[in-house]
Amino acid sequence: MLSMTTEKPMALPGTRPEGTVDEREAAAHVREMFGRIAPRYDFLNHLLSLSLDRVWRRRTAKRFAHILGRPDARAIDICCGTGDLAFALARERRRQLRRGRAPESEAAMPVIGCDFVEPMLERAADKARAAEHAAVFAAADALRLPFADASFDLVTTAFGFRNLGNYEQGLREIARVLRPGGEAAILEFTEPGAGPLAAVFRFYFRRVLPLVGGAISGNREAYRYLPGSVAMFPSPEELAALMQRCGFRGVRATTWNLGSVALHTALRA
Ligand SMILES: C[S@@+](CC[C@H](N)C(=O)[O-])C[C@H]1O[C@@H](n2cnc3c(N)ncnc32)[C@H](O)[C@@H]1O
Repeated sequence: MLSMTTEKPMALPGTRPEGTVDEREAAAHVREMFGRIAPRYDFLNHLLSLSLDRVWRRRTAKRFAHILGRPDARAIDICCGTGDLAFALARERRRQLRRGRAPESEAAMPVIGCDFVEPMLERAADKARAAEHAAVFAAADALRLPFADASFDLVTTAFGFRNLGNYEQGLREIARVLRPGGEAAILEFTEPGAGPLAAVFRFYFRRVLPLVGGAISGNREAYRYLPGSVAMFPSPEELAALMQRCGFRGVRATTWNLGSVALHTALRA
């Protein structure tokens, strides 16, 4: 069902992995798939992106230095997987707090990471312990976050939003837990633009990556799902329009890597 043609198919209301017909089935499928690839997830991320994924997360964290530098700011990374964006936010937070020499900086709220797949969270917690990162992890479904309204100043997500069974519900939930004026960031893959280099990237992403990812993870379906789900995901313009409809203002999209990665940032209206 997930098309591999070069034409952009109609974007779906949420992800629908092959064989699933509704939001509930999609969520169960996604949960099971990420549970299975968790042991090789970090290794493959860095290998398949030539470690550019680290650069994209670091750049995302830097965009929010103005929030992270406030000792009282509360930040959460949803669909956090093994925690790499939460760690990037925590590092940026430490840098900003040290720079500002805020007296309360030692007591600053840790960054929270949440995900609905336990094996991903276990890896995140192990990494946090090993590197003494100021991030804590909790199990939570991004479509039903267990937090009160207006709990956070910053909500981020990297390469996770595309996997939600209902994008509108996901955005409304992010808006709900943000305080008015709080900020959101969605880092996601998107279809690259035109041109010969983008065509080479497209070939890599659709043909080479699924082979290598499938062989190393032992899960071919997961690495076929990646380009397939990107093809069905709203374009940067469509996602920006959806964000505006779901309670955000000042939506901005920045693309990197030949237009294959987009960072959407916005303020909670
Ligand atoms: C491609 S991984 C991205 C992980 C991490 N953010 C990163 O940058 O590497 C997608 C993650 O989204 C999580 N996810 C998907 N749907 C979710 C949902 N409804 N609630 C919470 N987590 C979800 C998956 O469990 C998986 O860990």
